[in-house]
Amino acid sequence: MKYYQALTCSILLSLSTGMAVGQPLPALPEAATQFIDSLIQAMTIEEKTGQLTLFTSDIDVTGPTMRENYKEDILSGKVGAIFNAYGAAYTRDLQRMAVEETRLGIPLLFGYDVIHGHRTIFPIPLGETASWDLEAIEKAARIAAVEASSEGLHWTFAPMVDVARDPRWGRIAEGAGEDTYLGTKVAVARVKGFQGNDLRAENTVLACTKHFAAYGAAQAGRDYNTVDISEMVLRETYLPPFEATVEAGVATFMTSFNELFGVPATGSEFLLTDILKEEWNFQGFVVTDYTSINEMIPHGVAADEKEAGALAINAGVDMDMQGAVFYNHLPALVKEGKVSEATVDEAVRRVLEAKYRLGLFEDPYRYSNEQREQDSVMTEAHWAVARDVARKSIVLLKNDNNVLPLEKSGTVAVIGPLADNQKELIGSWSAAGDWKTSTSLLEGIRQQVGQQAKVVYAKGANINDDSTQLFQEAVEVANSADVIVLALGEEALMSGEAASRSDINLPGVQLALAQELQKTGKPMVVVLMNGRPLTINWLDDNVPAILETWFLGQQAGHAIADVLFGDYNPSGKLPVTFPRNVGQVPIYYNHKNTGRPFDQENKYTTKYLDVANEPLYPFGYGLSYTTFAYSDLTLSSQTLQANDSLQVSVTVRNTGEVAGHEVVQLYVRDLVGSITRPVKELKGFQKIGLNPGASQTVTFTIKPEDLAFYHSDLSFKPEAGQFKVFVGGNSEEVQEIDFTLAL
Ligand code: BGC
Repeated sequence: MKYYQALTCSILLSLSTGMAVGQPLPALPEAATQFIDSLIQAMTIEEKTGQLTLFTSDIDVTGPTMRENYKEDILSGKVGAIFNAYGAAYTRDLQRMAVEETRLGIPLLFGYDVIHGHRTIFPIPLGETASWDLEAIEKAARIAAVEASSEGLHWTFAPMVDVARDPRWGRIAEGAGEDTYLGTKVAVARVKGFQGNDLRAENTVLACTKHFAAYGAAQAGRDYNTVDISEMVLRETYLPPFEATVEAGVATFMTSFNELFGVPATGSEFLLTDILKEEWNFQGFVVTDYTSINEMIPHGVAADEKEAGALAINAGVDMDMQGAVFYNHLPALVKEGKVSEATVDEAVRRVLEAKYRLGLFEDPYRYSNEQREQDSVMTEAHWAVARDVARKSIVLLKNDNNVLPLEKSGTVAVIGPLADNQKELIGSWSAAGDWKTSTSLLEGIRQQVGQQAKVVYAKGANINDDSTQLFQEAVEVANSADVIVLALGEEALMSGEAASRSDINLPGVQLALAQELQKTGKPMVVVLMNGRPLTINWLDDNVPAILETWFLGQQAGHAIADVLFGDYNPSGKLPVTFPRNVGQVPIYYNHKNTGRPFDQENKYTTKYLDVANEPLYPFGYGLSYTTFAYSDLTLSSQTLQANDSLQVSVTVRNTGEVAGHEVVQLYVRDLVGSITRPVKELKGFQKIGLNPGASQTVTFTIKPEDLAFYHSDLSFKPEAGQFKVFVGGNSEEVQEIDFTLAL
């Protein structure tokens, strides 16, 4: 019998971890704490180091693989967690080595980047956020956890909650866009979906909030670049989604690659200990990003790996991802007194607690169940949800003369490098998703129209080269049709990690292809597939209908066809501003007013000589096949008192011909503060469904604490005074009304 198994017999284990959905991680029962303490006491420093070491297996890697001999490391107890290993049989085999063949038999933890689905692939996170449908987002994460956990995985490296206001940054695709409030809601929905309400259930996984912190503020949108923001901005804009996930019980955190205040996040005691573990009382464990301890050497804060290792663990890191720094140096650092054994024990305790919470000490194989794997991966039910989430994520950017929805009749020309493409649809970070199982747009359209319409196809161009050879054929195909559906965009790997672009136009000759096709005079619908906002002024000026479809996952073709032919009425809204040109970046809706706000008549106001201030499409924007009218914006009172609340009501009416969903958005502006405040801040939203002619009164509640902000002494409180409330279907087209906050 292994050491821990003997221990579990001698100490009565209370198996309930008492977790409730959306609550902070609860402390473990006394018996569990005792069990973990006894285990720690029995461990050598090498075994402790093993628990703090995470190595990649060879299935999938996201960086340089530094350890090829991870199996030997498992057998010698020198590694306690493995990532990029999945599959019930494979993980069972590795788990068996750890449990049966090491001295203490402590189970391994298996992690993986299950970002937007495991095998059933959902829209990229930015796209999914465009649904503004928290229930759908939670459901997608839930299904990802069901599939991942059935393949032996215990832990996903998601959600990424980095607020991102720079579309050049490829990782904007992985998060919830530019807004803190929306990002916070989405972050919590994802944690709830992954973790469910019981980590011990065999179909839930540990979530990992990443990347802590402010990674999205990389200068010039270049990945891994320096971040230099004030603490006020850090706290107000970047930290809230992180903190909200702690409050919702997230089990782990990942550090970020960037520096902040001159210190790499992986060595930042301020972030990891002062804020995360003390101020927020985070009870889970902190893993580094891939080799980010080692990277503190080129950052220039450590002379060698040993020094970097001491810096990291003393700052509050618990587990080293892939860098082998703890592995190579931690025992010596303890011996030399540079790291205290108590610090190591505390990190080990956090890791063992996570394993305990998952129930691994009770049954280390519970997640590696081949039968369950067969039954719960890529089921029809999962695919149906993926299709539904995908169509909810589509944003209708333009629809002049109601070109859309299309008739299922005549001849439809489906053209473009992304039209008959399956590979790109699953986007970056597509986990164990197999693009060969995805439905292309062409196939989706064919199935949707059946025999009712003729579908013709031409590729027209490649995504990213300068050949115009295929143009002629595309023009001929277009000429033979009644309408053109043109699928343009990026390759999946033009966004995601290490995929920044300084030019966010359509790559290659795709715009020229659109211009050629435009000359045919046929009505044209552009379907965009991309991982970031693109600059598409020409399309906006010249093409009657544009659909933003991001990378929608395996069901993309069906979901887009649902929208194109009116079987689903689009309701997505942009979670990020679309600039007119890259020179406007960073551009976001909740900017400050400045001392010289824009005035067309006055040269000496904040503006460009060569482009408007406004974006092409604002945050929160998206059309429908119907129209909505807003009226009767009213307040329950003109004054909001301390400890009271204010109700804001508006009537929304479907003034069109078809049923549809509208995301009703509420923004506020604090007119005069001791610190300047943004011109608008999202403070609430509700997605409602209305039949033609129907109306609904939507009510939001505002409390004084919703109006709080950071002051120069970093206190967080509201200030009495005049406010504006705005309600509307996007951040620009709003109705407004004033109230006073009296404190
Ligand atoms: C990324 C993380 C990811 C990790 C593991 C890193 O390169 O920055 O987001 O979780 O790799 O794959």
